[in-house]
Amino acid sequence: MRKNIEPSSLARDDRFQRQTTEERFKDLRDTMEVGKVDPKAEDVADRARRRMHGIFVGEIQALEGAGRTAFDFGTDEVPYELKLDMARQCWDEARHCEISIKLAEHMGGELGEYVESTTLFEAACHDDPVFRLAGVNRALEGLAIDVFTQMRDFGQEMGDPVLEYCEDYMLADEVTHVRMGSKWLRAVTEDDPERRKAAIEFQRVVDGLFNFRGQRGEERDAPIRLARQFRKMAGFTDGEVDEILETSMKQRAEVDAERMARSIMSED
Ligand SMILES: [Fe+2]
Ligand SMILES: [Fe+2]
Repeated sequence: MRKNIEPSSLARDDRFQRQTTEERFKDLRDTMEVGKVDPKAEDVADRARRRMHGIFVGEIQALEGAGRTAFDFGTDEVPYELKLDMARQCWDEARHCEISIKLAEHMGGELGEYVESTTLFEAACHDDPVFRLAGVNRALEGLAIDVFTQMRDFGQEMGDPVLEYCEDYMLADEVTHVRMGSKWLRAVTEDDPERRKAAIEFQRVVDGLFNFRGQRGEERDAPIRLARQFRKMAGFTDGEVDEILETSMKQRAEVDAERMARSIMSED
């Protein structure tokens, strides 16, 4: 089996439609569609299905990414225990794939109904395992903690115990995956502050993109609510959560300013 494969060599059958990160974020305005899954909104079913499909494809890529990291590096590059943790993560993600495809069906969706963005797998193809931990385990699975917490609450509000318990169950695993990322990022870069700094910068870039122009917040009705307590259980510091929040608020202010500028222009 080949090591360090290209991000574009992700194997899929023809039910899937692919979109690279570059395509996804080429016009940042497009990403405004992410939106909140609001139980009272008219298009709530479609939004929930879209989000569920996104979670499902994220789970497949997380499985593939963790598998790659367990395989791509020798014990001269990473501790054997790190490889074991990645193998354990594969086991979790395989269960999440089964759960989330069944949940997608439960919500009336089907495989391939929405595009698959391959950001997670792209980050999981990084040459440096520490960047994979920062970009995948901390940034993107950190986002999964936020999203699963919100979907669990959404399931509860909608009176759907199947959704509520499935999300709660997957959330517990994601806390473990993020914690693995925090633990190994620190351990592997113990004597290499430059490498740690660069990996954390990579995490910051991924987190910045996945704020979707200011959609993450801490207020109750934020489109994506930061799950501070679960993030802290997973090795995030308050300062790190604050930083994501501040970046998101800055992005939100930019979006508001653009909107205002557009409405002033259209009044002329
Ligand atoms: Fe997962
Ligand atoms: Fe995960």
